[in-house]
Amino acid sequence: MSTLLEVINLRKEFGGVLAVNDNNFIVEEGSRVGIIGPNGAGKTTSFNMISGAFKPTSGKIIFQGKEIQGLKPHKVSRLGIGRTFQNVRAFQSLTVYDHILTGILAHNLKLIPSKEQYEMADYILEITNLDKMRTSVVGDLTIALQRKIELATALATKPTLLLLDENMAGLTYVEINETLELLRKVNKEMGITLIVVEHIMKVIMELCEKIIVLNYGTKIAEGPPQEVANNKEVIEAYLGEESEYA
Ligand SMILES: Nc1ncnc2c1ncn2[C@@H]1O[C@H](COP(=O)(O)OP(=O)(O)OP(=O)(O)O)[C@@H](O)[C@H]1O
Ligand SMILES: [Mg+2]
Repeated sequence: MSTLLEVINLRKEFGGVLAVNDNNFIVEEGSRVGIIGPNGAGKTTSFNMISGAFKPTSGKIIFQGKEIQGLKPHKVSRLGIGRTFQNVRAFQSLTVYDHILTGILAHNLKLIPSKEQYEMADYILEITNLDKMRTSVVGDLTIALQRKIELATALATKPTLLLLDENMAGLTYVEINETLELLRKVNKEMGITLIVVEHIMKVIMELCEKIIVLNYGTKIAEGPPQEVANNKEVIEAYLGEESEYA
């Protein structure tokens, strides 16, 4: 496997708050990586730097061998990094179908979809199980469904790397299992590398091959799920003694 993303001494300060503390990690092409840690640990801030929403205070972000730190979000997106938002930002007035089309057309300045692009929209609706809601207006749907629409729209941009920030929050057990199956499928069949931030440990343990743990901005552990779940410092900082995974 080769390296897709490398983060080197990545740091973000907000005034006096150190949100991300000189972190280093590597994401291999085709892999599924989880990032966990308590509230305020720096997970979303790390995503915001990788996706171009925030400029790092210092450090490097290397994607496919190129330095991308400080690039604007639309440039990062065009390079093949997609994301979803912890606080849903789906376009409220669009239908589900049109929302997904915005993803498909995101990198196409012609704005008139081709036959292949319409087929891609149908494919995305089908694999995300949103087909029966294609004419629903996004703003009329639950937040959990809007998260799913954000995921579907991000997939529609055909990213090489997809960053998911608590995309399964609010889902039922059955819906979580469906989304897990979808993510395995997009990883295997579409070849999309995944970085998943999630507080639902079941998702992280079942989906990810590697877990990175942040605490107060600092990486305190990194490794395979079982090893990380048994790490003393991780149990103290985040999982707790009662964790069913330790
Ligand atoms: N735009 C901002 N301005 C100022 N401080 C910020 C900003 N964004 C994040 N922070 C601070 O940076 C730290 C890390 O926040 P971040 O949102 O990255 O945490 P998180 O790990 O995603 O937490 P959660 O699990 O609650 O989503 C926190 O102390 C937060 O208050
Ligand atoms: Mg967050």
